Amino acid sequence: RFEGAAEVWLFGYGSLIWKADFAFIERRRARLHGWSRRFWQGSHDHRGTPEAPGRVLTLTRDEGASCTGVAYLVTPAVFDALDHREKNGYLRHVAPLEFDDGTRVDGLVYIADEHNAAWLGPAPDADIARQIAAAHGPSGANRDYVLHLADALRAQQADDPHVFAIERALRGMGESHRSGRTA
Ligand code: BEZ
Repeated sequence: RFEGAAEVWLFGYGSLIWKADFAFIERRRARLHGWSRRFWQGSHDHRGTPEAPGRVLTLTRDEGASCTGVAYLVTPAVFDALDHREKNGYLRHVAPLEFDDGTRVDGLVYIADEHNAAWLGPAPDADIARQIAAAHGPSGANRDYVLHLADALRAQQADDPHVFAIERALRGMGESHRSGRTA
């Protein structure tokens, strides 16, 4: 569908909201209907290790809900780099996006579903927060991924009860948890 297209909208709902290390033509706040963000994907290569995987975001089908993020207008070459960076179970999907002014466009979004090897799935908030607090990987502390994301969502006036619940749980933990060690 996008073969041969000169420019494509890429929807970011996780680290892409605050970290775009690729060239883009335009950046707009956007909304994806029918999906919600969840810390249900395991990360053993970015925010964790094989021994202590972290938890990063993916999207889950959620009729009636929507996910606020950022859409980047990019050239298709950007996907070559991102496909490599995001190889850990994420696949590209076509996504109907809506901009703040009500305009709708088809874009692309990376989603990891339950059929990938790194999938972790749902867990109680406290368990998710404990796992995140203890995980560190080549891209840094898993905790910082959550805090960056929560700050970025607030900066664009986006609500997300799941993300803010995990953030609260993490901030409520002591320093001993933060380092991933027991006192
Ligand atoms: C995102 O920020 O939207 C994202 C980044 C990497 C993989 C999947 C999603």
